[in-house]
Amino acid sequence: MHLTIAVRDSSLADLPHIDRIRSHPLVRPHQFQISSNCVSSWEKWIELNARSGDFWFRCSTIVDDEQVIGYISQTLNFTRTCVFAECGWNLHPTYWGRGIMKLALGQILLRLFNEQKMSYVIADCFRSNTRCKRLLSNLHFSRVNVRWIERMRLAIDYRCLHWIERYRIDHGTWNAKYLRTQARWRSNTAVILRP
Ligand SMILES: CC(C)(COP(=O)(O)OP(=O)(O)OC[C@H]1O[C@@H](n2cnc3c(N)ncnc32)[C@H](O)[C@@H]1OP(=O)(O)O)[C@@H](O)C(=O)NCCC(=O)NCCS
Repeated sequence: MHLTIAVRDSSLADLPHIDRIRSHPLVRPHQFQISSNCVSSWEKWIELNARSGDFWFRCSTIVDDEQVIGYISQTLNFTRTCVFAECGWNLHPTYWGRGIMKLALGQILLRLFNEQKMSYVIADCFRSNTRCKRLLSNLHFSRVNVRWIERMRLAIDYRCLHWIERYRIDHGTWNAKYLRTQARWRSNTAVILRP
């Protein structure tokens, strides 16, 4: 069956659906603990859709016929020395394994590199998350080191005892590899980015 999925900016009305996906028993084991404080920060960020100091938090919702099926969060960092983004994502299990996240993330990366001129994009996942690691490898991310001090911070901030792996893709790698390989991907799913 052919499927057309859209990716658009998240709205406040999406948040309960996003929260339900994050709390799904098959999704939750792959998540950092989210505090209630964090949920209200999301509301504020999405409502204002604005840059605050060196940071700009954004979220994109993935919809199938207007039904929320997933999301991709993006924290853009504009520091004096480097401009980069951190991304996180989840998809409802009903939609796993159809290449949806690969295509949706591809669209978001395109925007981060070409419109926001990010130098690189990073994403963290638990070492046990083979599906996510396969996704990252398909998108040409490479594993990078996480310093011990950063591991300690993540463990304390998120009360997380999982071993974290960090992956990164640079603008140059994206240009060289992704744009060439995406033409070869076969999928009966189309993903469009809505302005
Ligand atoms: C990770 C996630 C976003 C992937 O979404 P998806 O749309 O299923 O991803 P895709 O179909 O684009 O690609 C998944 C890849 O994993 C492969 N895969 C499927 N099941 C797998 C498994 N059990 N182990 C390893 N790889 C697996 C798929 O074959 C595909 O690779 P391929 O394109 O080379 O065949 C989704 O599974 C999810 O939301 N998982 C739970 C939450 C999560 O892990 N979030 C990320 C936290 S960092």
